[in-house]
Amino acid sequence: MPNVHVISHPLVQHKLTLLRQVERSTQGFRRLVNEISMLLAYEVTRDLALEMTEIETPLTRMASPILAGKKLVFAPILRAGVGFLDGMLELVPAARVAHIGLYRDPATLQAVEYYFKAPPDVAERLVIVLDPMLATANSAVAAVDLLKARGCRAIRMVCLLAAPEGIAHFHTRHPEVPIWTAAIDSHLDAHGYIVPGLGDAGDRIFGTR
Ligand code: PRP
Ligand code: URA
Repeated sequence: MPNVHVISHPLVQHKLTLLRQVERSTQGFRRLVNEISMLLAYEVTRDLALEMTEIETPLTRMASPILAGKKLVFAPILRAGVGFLDGMLELVPAARVAHIGLYRDPATLQAVEYYFKAPPDVAERLVIVLDPMLATANSAVAAVDLLKARGCRAIRMVCLLAAPEGIAHFHTRHPEVPIWTAAIDSHLDAHGYIVPGLGDAGDRIFGTR
């Protein structure tokens, strides 16, 4: 699929299998999401631009690479996207954070906005949207709509699981936004859940069901 990166790293695939298991405890689930998010952060930042800077080692001066440009922004979609945040920030501690509050209306499956808070200069930064689940993609489409409405142009989407229907919908609306995912599952069920999936990501991360 164009503009979709499936992260086949063995550690990601192994941890994803553990996550999917129905018997996984809240504590175990949260820890695995945290571990996977670090590995996903590594992949989604693989091609960030570098520039050379002059530094001094204990022995000599040298030109050495550092990240170029403004600090990037992680944009978790509440709630489940927050489960990705700590792991991402472990790897990129200077990143800024934009919280995007959306929930999926269970009857219509449409995304309902309830909160948005981003750095004032978010439009000048690379924004990486975080949400474990890309199901219908209504939430991810709405999140990117909100970011574009504030002028953002450099946007990436990271999830754990994506449904083929969700990828198609997302790229119909935002074809230039690349997706990183650990797996593309089979399909959506009648309630918009990813099959085989892992259930309700927010409930499993926060122990609310
Ligand atoms: C879940 C998930 C995504 C959304 C995916 O959130 O975290 O945000 O559903 O579904 P979609 O692709 O069909 O929009 P939910 O609305 O259950 O809210 P929560 O994270 O607060 O549990
Ligand atoms: N949201 C979830 O948390 N899980 C799904 O399978 C679909 C949407």
